[in-house]
Formats: sequence, structure tokens, C-alpha cells
Amino acid sequence: MTDRVRIVEVGPRDGLQNEAAHLSPETRIAFIERLLAAGLETIEAGSFVSPKWVPQMAGTDAVLRGLGARPGRNFPVLVPNERGFDAALAAGAGEVAVFAAASEAFSQRNINCSIAESIERFRPVADKARAAGIRLRGYVSCALGCPYEGEVDPARVVAVTVALRELGCYEIAVSDTIGVGTPDRAASLVERAADAIGIEHVAVHFHDTYGQSLANIYASLQKGVRVVDAAAGGLGGCPYAAGASGNVATEDVVYMLNGMGIETGVDLEKLLDAAEFVAAAIGRNPVSRVHRALRPA
Ligand code: HMG
Ligand code: MG
Repeated sequence: MTDRVRIVEVGPRDGLQNEAAHLSPETRIAFIERLLAAGLETIEAGSFVSPKWVPQMAGTDAVLRGLGARPGRNFPVLVPNERGFDAALAAGAGEVAVFAAASEAFSQRNINCSIAESIERFRPVADKARAAGIRLRGYVSCALGCPYEGEVDPARVVAVTVALRELGCYEIAVSDTIGVGTPDRAASLVERAADAIGIEHVAVHFHDTYGQSLANIYASLQKGVRVVDAAAGGLGGCPYAAGASGNVATEDVVYMLNGMGIETGVDLEKLLDAAEFVAAAIGRNPVSRVHRALRPA
């Protein structure tokens, strides 16, 4: 059987939430349409958070409504609490994601509560999701380091991962929010998470601040991970993690996987079109190496 990786495209959410330019729902839909045309099946479409905290994600309801249901395609959205879940459900979401942190300081800055409180906030979200037949994904931020606390004990990462799994998350994205991880640590963390919840429930979500993402993904693949988060054009960062740069660029991941003979179902040229479209909308070039190589200015 051919080896396959599922890419979770997070550009329209993680990418755009940290860009200075605030794109309209129409432009965000046009970006997502291009990602769909490139073959991406799971595209995080936005978040239902406070528009005072993250104004870039205002109008996510219009994005979901504009996209409508597409057979075989998923448009997960972030929800921090029950209120966000209710809004996501009303807009037609089929999948939501809750996000916890492995660092107390980051949890406070990002969602204004402790880690334990966040898990309690997610409980009614999980209950409602289950009742409504909506899939629930989870994130653990600061899995390889925290912008406020520095090193994070892997045991704490695993504990939060297990808590999210017990809530009912079908998949948990171990997230290097500020991109400080290196391959051996990434691999070791993935192994510990897999021991705790099973490798089929582990995804990796790496930011590329120090240029380590591809190496960390490669190391994670060796441990059996087959779900990788990425953002077209290497968009974005995180508004509550100073110095964090964008996610690993989807085109760089696809290029590496193509070279390894691992299928993704993604058309690299069409993906570059999508990355160029959104880059033009925010007024800068895609930052990926593959874009620079294949479409030099
Ligand atoms: P809070 O202030 O503790 O909560 O914020 P609150 O209940 O007191 O509400 C404050 C205000 O937000 C109120 O409005 C609420 O109505 C409103 P006001 O009275 O001031 O006008 N509010 C909402 N509005 C819309 N949708 C909602 C909602 N809930 C409350 N769901 C809260 C708590 C979580 C809401 C806030 O801290 C927040 O929105 N934070 C944003 C967090 C965020 O989006 N961070 C970025 C995404 S996470 C990430 O990037 C990491 C990830 O990529 C993985 C990685 O790389 O690590 C996933
Ligand atoms: Mg992120």
C-alpha cells in the first residue's frame, strides 16, 4: 500500500490570524477555493474567538457559510469555549478544534485561564460536539518550548495530550508554537505522546521560526506520524507568542513528501497558485523555499 500523509492546511486560520492585513471573508473564501483546487481536503477555515483578541478571524461564520458543505472536505474551526462552539455549529461547522497549552503562562496570555480551567471549559464543548455529531480536534501549544517559561517538561505535554484525548479529541496536534524544537526532541515527544494515546491520534504542528520544521516533521514521520499541519506560503505566526513566525510552508512539506514517495493528493503548482494569491492579498511574497525555487521573482 502506498504511504500517505494527510496535510491539515492551517493557512486560512493560523496563517491569517497573525497577519497585519485583515482579509475579508470573501478573500478568505477565494484563498480556500484555491487550496481546495490544489487537492487539500482538510482546511482550517478560521476561529470563533473574541474579535477584540483576534480581529483577523472576525467573519469566520461568513467564511463557513460561503463555503457550504463539500463532500470529502473538512473545514475545522477553532473554538475556545461553549460560546464559540455554538456560533460554529450555527454556521454549519462539521469539525471544531479546542486548544490548550502545556505552559501556564502561555495559557493565561492566549485564552486568559489556567490549563486546568481550559480543560473544564472544553468539557461542555466536547459534550455538545458529541451530541451534534461534530468531530473534535485538539492542540497542545508550547509542546517544545514556551515564549514565557522557556523549556517545557514533556511529561506536562503528554498530560495535556491525554486530557484532550479523554475529552474526545480524535486527533491531537502536538504544537511547537514558537518553532524552537529540534529533531531528536520532536521525535522523542511524538514517541511519548504515541505511547500515551496511540500514534494514529497524534498530529504535528510546527512553526518554522528557527528553520527546523522540515527536519522535525521528518523525525516525526520516522516515529509513525501521518498527519502534518502546514500553511500555504508559510503564512503567519501566533498573536500571543512574540517572535513566532509562520507555520511550516505547505509547499515545502509537499515537496519533501513527494521526494520520499509519500502521497498527499496535493498538486504542487496549484498550491503555489494559492500561496501567491494570498501573498498578494496581504502584500508580501510567500516565504517558502519551494516558491523561491520554482517561481523566482
Ligand atoms: P476572556 O476575556 O477570558 O473571556 O477571553 P470572557 O468570557 O470574559 O469574554 C471576553 C469578551 O470576549 C467578551 O466580549 C465576550 O463576549 C467575548 P466583551 O464583553 O468584552 O465585548 N467572547 C467571545 N467573542 C466571540 N467568540 C467567542 C467569545 N468568547 C468570549 N467564542 C477568550 C477568553 C478565549 C474568548 C479570549 O481569550 C480569546 O478570544 N482569545 C483568543 C485566543 C486565540 O485565538 N489565539 C490564537 C489561536 S491559538 C494558536 O494560534 C495556537 C495553535 O496554532 C497551536 C500552536 O501553534 O501552538 C492552535
Ligand atoms: Mg500554530
